[in-house]
Amino acid sequence: MQHFLSVRNLSANTIETILERAEVIGGTREQHTGRYFAANLFFEPSTRTKMSFVVAERNLGMDTLDFHTETSSTAKGESLYDTVRTYESIGADLLVIRHANDNWCDELGSSISVPIINAGSGKGEHPTQCMLDLYTIKQEFGAFQGLNVAIAGDIKHSRVARSHVSALKTVGANVYFVNVPGFMDESLDIPSLTMDEACTMCDVVMLLRIQHERHGNGACDTTSYLEKFGLTIERERKMQNHAIIMHPAPVNRNVEIDTRLVECDRSRIFQQMENGVAVRMGIMDYLLAERSVFV
Ligand code: CP
Repeated sequence: MQHFLSVRNLSANTIETILERAEVIGGTREQHTGRYFAANLFFEPSTRTKMSFVVAERNLGMDTLDFHTETSSTAKGESLYDTVRTYESIGADLLVIRHANDNWCDELGSSISVPIINAGSGKGEHPTQCMLDLYTIKQEFGAFQGLNVAIAGDIKHSRVARSHVSALKTVGANVYFVNVPGFMDESLDIPSLTMDEACTMCDVVMLLRIQHERHGNGACDTTSYLEKFGLTIERERKMQNHAIIMHPAPVNRNVEIDTRLVECDRSRIFQQMENGVAVRMGIMDYLLAERSVFV
């Protein structure tokens, strides 16, 4: 595997191998020798993905190359391709990219020789978020086969949901969507539940942020969203004892979830962020070992 652009082509074996590598490498914080450069090219805002990549790269002994759209030649009109080729030319050994275009991976994947990691492609995919979520689920339940996972929220505009549909099916989980009018994506053939049904029957209730920035017509009215479709205290009480709450974050508190539940006992929201470092270390180690950069 040269790049890490999508979870669609990952076998269950590759998913398990990366998760195992993340577990080993995250635990030891193993330092590698040599001088390697990782470039973090975020054309869209990010806190946890970007910063956990920076920490993961430094834990692996890599130097990090920063990038800001407003102070780079992007501000002069330079294209994504030319920016990426520039970083490759000046010696980046690995490129981490987030961009609003759904299809940038298809355009870059075949023309760049150093590994590229997709840190978010428009509404397309968010494969490293998916892997850290799988890691969190495995940490909790030990395996995926037969687990019931409900994904609730703005599925239509969610790259996280698109990655999860593919990977969760690959590893044998049952995936359900919570039916929120206007936020469904009928092209994804997934059975739907009400939020009350999801809370009663699922092992994992995964909430998604309402992605106002992708709606095109500004922020939508969320006044009654929590009560109608969100995770209220009343619904949380219907969850099974072992069931967990997840959210890729950032969270719209009191919209997708009652703010009192964000750090409740069954919430794994900050655990997901913590796991992001180990999993991103695991993914980079996996890609670079294949190229004999790390041995
Ligand atoms: N979950 C996630 O991608 O968060 P950031 O946008 O802060 O990176």
